[in-house]
Amino acid sequence: MKTESRRRNTRCGLWIGFGLLTGILSGLYLWRRQRIRRTLPPLVSTTEDRKGTALVTGASSGIGASYARRLAQAGYDLIIVARRRERLETLAETLRANYGREVEVLVADLADEEDVARVAARIAALEDLEILINNAGFNVPGRWVESPVERQLDMVGVHVVAPVRFTRAALPAMVARGRGAVVNVSSLMAFFPLYEAANYAATKSYLRAFTEALYQELEGTGVRAQVLCPGFVRTEMHPAAQIERSGLPACLWMTPEKVVAGSLKDLERGVAISIPGFGYRLLARVGRLLPRWLLYEVGPRIQKARGAAKEGFSEFRKRYYRNWAELRDDLRFMRQNRARMRQGMRALDGAFRERLMLAVTQVNGCRYCAQFHAQTALKDGLAPEEIAELLEGTFDACPEEERIGVLFAQHWADTAGHPDPEAWDRLVETYGPERAGAIEMSLRMIKMGNYMGNTLDYVLYRISGGRWGK
Ligand SMILES: NC(=O)c1ccc[n+]([C@@H]2O[C@H](COP(=O)([O-])OP(=O)(O)OC[C@H]3O[C@@H](n4cnc5c(N)ncnc54)[C@H](OP(=O)(O)O)[C@@H]3O)[C@@H](O)[C@H]2O)c1
Repeated sequence: MKTESRRRNTRCGLWIGFGLLTGILSGLYLWRRQRIRRTLPPLVSTTEDRKGTALVTGASSGIGASYARRLAQAGYDLIIVARRRERLETLAETLRANYGREVEVLVADLADEEDVARVAARIAALEDLEILINNAGFNVPGRWVESPVERQLDMVGVHVVAPVRFTRAALPAMVARGRGAVVNVSSLMAFFPLYEAANYAATKSYLRAFTEALYQELEGTGVRAQVLCPGFVRTEMHPAAQIERSGLPACLWMTPEKVVAGSLKDLERGVAISIPGFGYRLLARVGRLLPRWLLYEVGPRIQKARGAAKEGFSEFRKRYYRNWAELRDDLRFMRQNRARMRQGMRALDGAFRERLMLAVTQVNGCRYCAQFHAQTALKDGLAPEEIAELLEGTFDACPEEERIGVLFAQHWADTAGHPDPEAWDRLVETYGPERAGAIEMSLRMIKMGNYMGNTLDYVLYRISGGRWGK
């Protein structure tokens, strides 16, 4: 009895302790946030007044160009830095014309020490530098031991040496003025030192640690420091490094505009680590809690699966759901039109329906649907030769009166359910509105089946590291 009540008391004590700790931590967090907001002068504003100068490295494309546009729009004059002069000049022209800002073009290779010194001297000479964005960067994918060491050293120069030199050149004046901001563009890789990205992850981790420490040192000076850690962003970086983008689901990709908007919003609020996108913020948090051995186990598998998917998946996949929204829309359509679907299926003769199904399956390429409909087509009286023909995209054995329907089915699948109006008119003319509607309903059903089969294949293929389905 006594032991039981002692146990209950201990449990109760633990809960009270946990509650108190959570309360204290939340209180501290809110107090700190308020204090930071009170001590930092406002930064980014959308009014049209001139705000000082912002310098952006790597502004000739992607995230850097997006920063330049947003900052010009917000009222800053700009200095834009990169190697490709034409790109910079075009951007400068656009910013001058659209926002009436002064824009200076600085052509520099940030892997080159002399160029870095030249840009650092320009920064130190600026009297009104408000924002420094160290964004220039690139990736050299592959196993570190096999990649050219010069490129890796260039990466250290661009990702580490240049930002350190530029930050050092900018900060004294900012601190003296009691305002300004430094943003270092790192990556989510700063939390996940992954296989085949050794130097990239290492240099980006450097930027994260460096900026977090600066953030603490700068507290109370009125100067902000932020490290931006984006996930996958649609820019020129992946094509330039010949990194395959198609293997990743569309929902993982962000636009540079969204990333920059997130960064500037966090900068205004004085956030030290900016990770745009809720999913990525969650991933970074989970990533920090994961035991390292799990990372070592999972990281190489993911990379290898991506590599394998790039090479072999096209063997059996044609079309599949690329995001949840597509699947959700199809499911919603099915739910809302259940009765019409049933009617549609009944309105068509079994053999005709199977010809339509096989024609759509041939375009979309689902092997499960192909097998299933080949079997039902046999039961509905189609010859094995005709089934094979339909699965190869020809239909010589198809009865004359069904040809327009089967041709429409192929076209409908080819255009992913958005046929030309003329094709639709011809279908209605041939079969009448009611049967044409029934045909369209059948096509939608099989499209959904095809996509589901292929999505399943795709997921299994990725999980199995490229072994499934070969
Ligand atoms: N895209 C992503 O998924 C992603 C994710 C996380 C972090 N990031 C980081 O975001 C930053 C911007 O990349 P991005 O995605 O916008 O790619 P991007 O479109 O390829 O832009 C990279 C920029 O860096 C410049 N640059 C590269 N090497 C340079 C050098 N030696 N000297 C001077 N400038 C150089 C490029 O200009 P020039 O070629 O004209 O010199 C270009 O303007 C990089 O630091 C990257 O690591 C990107």
